[in-house]
Amino acid sequence: MKEKKFGIIGKPLSHSLSPILHNFWFKKYKISASYSLIEIELDEIEKVINKIKSGELYGINVTVPYKQAVIPFLDATVNEAKETLSVNTISLNKEGKLEGTNTDVYGLEKGFTNKLGNQDSEQNSVLVLGAGGVTPSIIYALKKKGFKKISIGNRTLKKAEDIKKKFSFIKVVEWKNIEEEAINMDIIINATSLGLKYGNDFEQEFKIIKPNLVYYDIIYNPEETMMIKKFKRRNVQTFNGLEMFLYQGQKSFSLWNKINPELNEELTQTVMSKLK
Ligand code: ATR
Repeated sequence: MKEKKFGIIGKPLSHSLSPILHNFWFKKYKISASYSLIEIELDEIEKVINKIKSGELYGINVTVPYKQAVIPFLDATVNEAKETLSVNTISLNKEGKLEGTNTDVYGLEKGFTNKLGNQDSEQNSVLVLGAGGVTPSIIYALKKKGFKKISIGNRTLKKAEDIKKKFSFIKVVEWKNIEEEAINMDIIINATSLGLKYGNDFEQEFKIIKPNLVYYDIIYNPEETMMIKKFKRRNVQTFNGLEMFLYQGQKSFSLWNKINPELNEELTQTVMSKLK
């Protein structure tokens, strides 16, 4: 049988571990397929997506900065892709139409929000830092879990205000005020690129926090960002983004291949070894 080709579009892509994940599963389940990085410019999106129609590609993942930009080139968006205007998985549906799905929300639920057993979602306040590609999915996952008090702070205010157009119940705070906003928060989520390996980091110290604070970092490379390390030392409960990454990949894989691939220690170790 002809090898099925999959890939992830975005820019830059050199740090993406999606090929490791999917190629691990293709091997494990003996599927004749391969998954590669497809780094493209904005004006190449249509051409690449149409390769699914011609059969050259079987499925595409989408990452920053194109999760919203792909939507005009699709025939349909389903489920959470509709609610978030954010697509990370593309395939051809039964009717032969190009369909965009969002599996990030699922990843966030499995990797983070479902673990907030002790949190009172009605009463607790959440501060989301960043207004990039993954933020709408984070807000949607929090909303599904029942959180109502959500603030969002972003260096570029306009991008946070744009997200508020979709989720009118959120509060937008200016970047210079995030430390003050953090004082009364039960959960802080880093959805910026601050803390990424070889990248910039937070200048804010977040000196005053609630004793029960939970900190979630969407970043998993490094495994522990500087913020995770600092908060851990202060006995804050922390999570990184590795599980979210694994679960969103699991969901994409099962949509394309009709097999729900296993997440196990061997896979986690394989991914982690690439981080070091
Ligand atoms: P994109 O914004 O293209 O979707 P992303 O990786 O999803 O890319 O998001 C990057 C996030 O990190 C953004 O919220 C970005 O803030 P801006 O919207 O102001 O660009 C944030 N970010 C990146 N570098 C930052 C820095 N030095 N200080 C504060 N926020 C930063």
